[in-house]
Amino acid sequence: MKKTKFNLDNLTIKEKAGQLVQIAPFFFIKDLKNEVYGSFVDLKLTEEEIFLTGSVLGIGGPEEKKAVQKAYLSRSRHQIPLIFMADVIHGCKTIYPVPLAQACSFNPNLVKKAAKMAAREALAYGIDLTFSPMSDLVRDPRWGRVVESFGEDPYLNYVFSKATAKGYDSEGLLSCTKHFAAYGLSEAGRDYNTVDLSRLSLLNYFINGHQGALDSGSSLVMTAFNTFEYIPATINKYLLQDVLKDYMGYKDAVVIADYDSLLQTKAHGVSKNDYDASVKGINAGLEIEMASSSYLRCLPSAVDNKDVSINTIDNAVNKVLKLKEKAGIFNNPYRGSREELDKLALSKEHKEISYNLAVESAVLLKNKQNILPLSKDLKVSLIGNYASSKRMLGPWSWHGNPEDNTSLKSLIKPFYTTDSENYLDVDTNEVKKTDVIILAIGEHDRESGEAHSKTDIRLSREQVDLIKYLKQLEIPIVLTLFSGRPIVLSEIIDDVDALMSVFFLGTMASEAIYDLLYGIKNPSGKLAMTFPRSVGQIPIYYNHLNTGRPFLDDDNPYTSLYLDMPNTPLYDFGIGLSYSKFEIDATISNLEFTKETLPTISVNVKNISDVPGHETILLYVKDVVAEISRPVKELKQFEKIYLQPDEEMIVDFKLGLDDLSYVHPNYQKYADPGEFEVIVANKVFKINFKEDK
Ligand code: BGC
Repeated sequence: MKKTKFNLDNLTIKEKAGQLVQIAPFFFIKDLKNEVYGSFVDLKLTEEEIFLTGSVLGIGGPEEKKAVQKAYLSRSRHQIPLIFMADVIHGCKTIYPVPLAQACSFNPNLVKKAAKMAAREALAYGIDLTFSPMSDLVRDPRWGRVVESFGEDPYLNYVFSKATAKGYDSEGLLSCTKHFAAYGLSEAGRDYNTVDLSRLSLLNYFINGHQGALDSGSSLVMTAFNTFEYIPATINKYLLQDVLKDYMGYKDAVVIADYDSLLQTKAHGVSKNDYDASVKGINAGLEIEMASSSYLRCLPSAVDNKDVSINTIDNAVNKVLKLKEKAGIFNNPYRGSREELDKLALSKEHKEISYNLAVESAVLLKNKQNILPLSKDLKVSLIGNYASSKRMLGPWSWHGNPEDNTSLKSLIKPFYTTDSENYLDVDTNEVKKTDVIILAIGEHDRESGEAHSKTDIRLSREQVDLIKYLKQLEIPIVLTLFSGRPIVLSEIIDDVDALMSVFFLGTMASEAIYDLLYGIKNPSGKLAMTFPRSVGQIPIYYNHLNTGRPFLDDDNPYTSLYLDMPNTPLYDFGIGLSYSKFEIDATISNLEFTKETLPTISVNVKNISDVPGHETILLYVKDVVAEISRPVKELKQFEKIYLQPDEEMIVDFKLGLDDLSYVHPNYQKYADPGEFEVIVANKVFKINFKEDK
């Protein structure tokens, strides 16, 4: 790695260690003389030491950033500015759909644009680096953080992490892929819980998202809270050296701990004290510790004691200084401007991207007798919390203001409406005068996200009772489902005529929902995460392995099944309806091939309806016989197209060797010759990969 322009010999060991510590902004601007209690004390640093730290977590706007940087530089011997990092996850002031919804759009270009706009606002806000994308693969909707993820598919994770990081990068906002690694597999969906998985699973499925972000220029990697092979990720040499640096090849990526996770290794029972944690962290490859100060307090003596080499410290500091150079903060330590922010925030352009992405992220899951789209002449009852609540931004939207949203009520202008979800409050006589009921219910915005895991992911009792009650009125019910995760809907799904999953769609949520309900726009989202029938099926995901006794729907009871429920989910990955109808047929160029003659699959798509619309063609591959058991199918490529009525288009997918490859028990990635299946639009091609002679 290239050296920075700094001669590290001029820095004392304490000054070096300080560069490796990240703390909150208020430490630099409050009156430290009078603030001897609270978190200042918890941090265990002297005032002098605080001013040696190198980076800041979170910031309250460009003014605060300037004040902090000014205070810092006025006391800094080497004039190395602070770098400001924060969580801009799905927008800064203008909020885009939550990442789980974004993935349902199957539109990486639009997601890239949204990240680009978010980057502009973040930079104006004073942020140099965002802790995004969250590239964790998820399989358990009980885990509150699935809302921050791109879902259950490694390829989608790769594509959307890549698109997001590229969007940030295009504006010069640095980014961070997190959480390294396998945090999405927290046992029983309980946040921060233990993770246990094989190295092969890690390399085949759980690092793909991170790879995508790093391939697109993410400079920082945040460790996960969980253990991997019984060692916390934050001090895990296998993850931080062998996988990230050697296997994936990202030697220059800077590694940061998640919030306090370095010192949490004590609670994990693998560090004796702060000193021990620091030694383990730095020697494993952890360069920055977040929200704690043990590096600053302990590394100088660790070097004296020869527990840590000065080269290790210099290497880490060098990387941090390179990161600061990449952020451009030596030339512009005060970057950020209120004027610029005011111009960008909720600007026409940003709202338009947010709207377009919201429209493409909603997923229509049920539409009995084509009740949707609704005609404007219908008299509507609009019922539920989201009739007038504007809290549709979702978790991690701390700079966004829900008050900037429009309410559904003001757009739909219903004949009858109530926010109450208690059926006793519903005025039945009024509802009976209407033609359709739009139910705008689901999870509240604070029911998902970090530390928001649940064991019961059904609708609330009150909401179920409400649906059952309304069902008796024999008026069609359209359920507009808000949530930060897949919801278990089995007990009500037959009671509703239409179901649109809208997650949290951001600043333009209501406009998008309204236009979709009334056919001004045509739904095109497809699920990026499976909706189970019951919590008892979890973990349930489409790309699972087969068993030795797969369920075959015959009379044999000794197959892999449940006594009380089918194996299948309520809504599978990749499902999503449209108001258009498409006729799809596929052909393949050759069934036998070598590396040089990989086949092309041509998919003919025709819009046979009178509604223009998007269709996404998903191409899956199954490795029929391999050295290890492989998933029943895996998404390898997709293409989203837009067709006018009667329009026809051919989409060509060129199969790549990578589509057939996986990481083998020898940790090498390659394809096994032999039988594969290509699955596209209900067609299965049995193909044969022949070795070159
Ligand atoms: C979360 C991270 C986040 C960090 C900083 C942690 O609690 O796990 O995702 O980036 O806080 O806000």
